[in-house]
Amino acid sequence: MAQRDHFATRLGFVLAAAGSAVGLGNIWKFPFMTGQNGGGAFLVLYIVFVLTIGLSVMLAEFAIGRAGQRNPVGSFRALKGGAWPAAGGLGVIAGFVILSFYSVVGGWTLAYAIKSVTGALASNDPKVLGAAFGTFIADPLDVIGFHTAFMVLTLVIVAGGVRHGIERAARILMPILALLVIVLAVRAVTLDGAAKGIAFFLTPDFSKVTWNTVNAALGQAFFSLSLGMGTMITYASYLNRQVNLPKTAAQVTLLDTGFAVIAGLMILPAVFAFGFDPAAGPGLTFITLPAVFAQMPAGALFSFLFFTLLAIAALTSAVSIIEPVVSYLIDERKLSRRTATWGAGAVIWALGVPSALSLGPWKDITVGGKSILDAVDYLASNIMLPLGGILIALFVGWSVAARAVDEAQSGGNHPFALARAWIFICRFVAPVAVAWVMIQGL
Ligand code: PFF
Repeated sequence: MAQRDHFATRLGFVLAAAGSAVGLGNIWKFPFMTGQNGGGAFLVLYIVFVLTIGLSVMLAEFAIGRAGQRNPVGSFRALKGGAWPAAGGLGVIAGFVILSFYSVVGGWTLAYAIKSVTGALASNDPKVLGAAFGTFIADPLDVIGFHTAFMVLTLVIVAGGVRHGIERAARILMPILALLVIVLAVRAVTLDGAAKGIAFFLTPDFSKVTWNTVNAALGQAFFSLSLGMGTMITYASYLNRQVNLPKTAAQVTLLDTGFAVIAGLMILPAVFAFGFDPAAGPGLTFITLPAVFAQMPAGALFSFLFFTLLAIAALTSAVSIIEPVVSYLIDERKLSRRTATWGAGAVIWALGVPSALSLGPWKDITVGGKSILDAVDYLASNIMLPLGGILIALFVGWSVAARAVDEAQSGGNHPFALARAWIFICRFVAPVAVAWVMIQGL
């Protein structure tokens, strides 16, 4: 019996953490960021950051959450107190910022699921598909309507406490999405003219790397792995001491990175084969994939399936973005789950409206040369998450190192051979490298 419980808990946790990590970051953001940042060199930098800093910060979040057994603010307080809970507070604020634009793009996936069956996307002409995306994005009712729909779906899941339902659904649907992404990648790499895209993606050209590239790769690593804002602290707080944390961190990281790399193979070869612009930005996935579907038998069906599954992957991530906010409001502000969810959700929805309008009606408004959506994303991924990551690493490395190592080993249940290397990375490598990259990027 104990054995079964243990297994169920570990699987549930892996699913929740993987459901959080795998989302729009892999399939929407990673390909267009790679396209904007010169291809292969970005991929290499991203993987280096994921395997060093990302993996270490993920394990740090797991250890803090399981040892603290509370929301991010409460977990820091339970372990040490002082000014540290403010680091959790930063994460709660990051949750508001990230979900505001995440929900907008989540809305795009819902819209494209519907467009798949209405035939609005049946073309492989870059001009037609670019224009279809442009028309959609320019209609305020459409973009705000689908942003609202995505937000309501997220809030219903979080408020109703039916998280387990969606996690169970995700357990069946995510493997199907993985399969579909692989099928699409195979279709994409076998298109006429795909070779240039494959070379672009897999052949690093370090002569083109700037600090912006490095900064972008670091931000992408944090965003994609759901790190730096306490999501993984919150999820790990629901854990018992049986689970092997380093092993789980490694599995979630590999799964997430695998998804991103295959998504890159699905998009970038097709971009080159059809003559799209790899640096097109946030629209890239939405204008490229329909062209791939147009080259497949039963393309409309594939398209509908793909965008529906992507919307579900986005929902399991969205739920994880708001969960630290909600658990903070429940634990620390004594709100009910319902009030916390709908209250925070309303604020996040309103924050998202400018992002929703920013590629259409408000496209002339720029912040530091970026659209509002890109600027909000930048603020979250390249400033707030890395800053949160530095604080989490410093906390584990310096403030609670012995406790964290004990937690990472599950109190001796799972000896962790790399514990010293992990603490070394948390003490020195991660804070210095992340701070350095951030400063250079600014
Ligand atoms: N990792 C998610 C994705 O790649 O889509 C996004 C995300 C979830 C970011 C949770 C941050 C977070 F805390």
